[in-house]
Amino acid sequence: MQSKLKILVTAGPTREPIDPVRYITNYSTGKMGYALAKAAIPKFEEVFLVSGPSNLPAPEYVHFFPVSSAAEMKTAVLNLFSKVDVVIMAAAVADYRVSEIKEHKIKKEGKSDLVLTLVKNPDILSELGKKKEKQFLVGFAAESENLIDNALKKMQAKQLDMIIANNISEEGSGFAYDTNIATILNSDGTQYSLDKMPKEEMAQIIIDYILQRI
Ligand code: CTP
Repeated sequence: MQSKLKILVTAGPTREPIDPVRYITNYSTGKMGYALAKAAIPKFEEVFLVSGPSNLPAPEYVHFFPVSSAAEMKTAVLNLFSKVDVVIMAAAVADYRVSEIKEHKIKKEGKSDLVLTLVKNPDILSELGKKKEKQFLVGFAAESENLIDNALKKMQAKQLDMIIANNISEEGSGFAYDTNIATILNSDGTQYSLDKMPKEEMAQIIIDYILQRI
């Protein structure tokens, strides 16, 4: 059944430019975020999807906002934040960008090494945690060690209501796979483990689980 609620989902990687031909990114494909946005369509009055570069087609029946860098994602998310009741940050936001984007292609002539200085990107989810009024905030924690501890720390630090802990080093879980393995951690201390399953199926479970808790 459809609720009167509105949801914002972010998906995909961000792309941080170095010069006109190069950029820094990560292995995120957008599959989990797009699956969440699609699973939300029949249950929410409106679905907003802010996506970094992805090869996936924009889903029908969602308001689609394509972005590239973390800075662009932040602007798009902050513009939509007051309109929504739930935010799921499934995007793999690049933590760093180059300090100075070169206007022209960096040439290799005369250089044996190239040193790039990186500066920290804004943490979009932390900013939402500080701003939130009514919104139910859900984060993802991509971890390769100390999964639950690290995810719990992120949930507290970013003032989230829920975090989906993802062990990206497990076979069948994380970026390139069509399946995922996760543990849902709630701010009240309860947990719910999800065995290996297709991302579409996991998305349905996560959406239903969120709706039960708000
Ligand atoms: N996130 C964000 N802005 C960033 C980095 C992360 O909004 N600059 C969000 C992600 O979308 C995710 C959550 O924060 O929902 C956790 O992201 P993750 O990459 O697991 O953790 P980080 O906070 O970046 O910490 P670290 O990279 O040190 O593990």
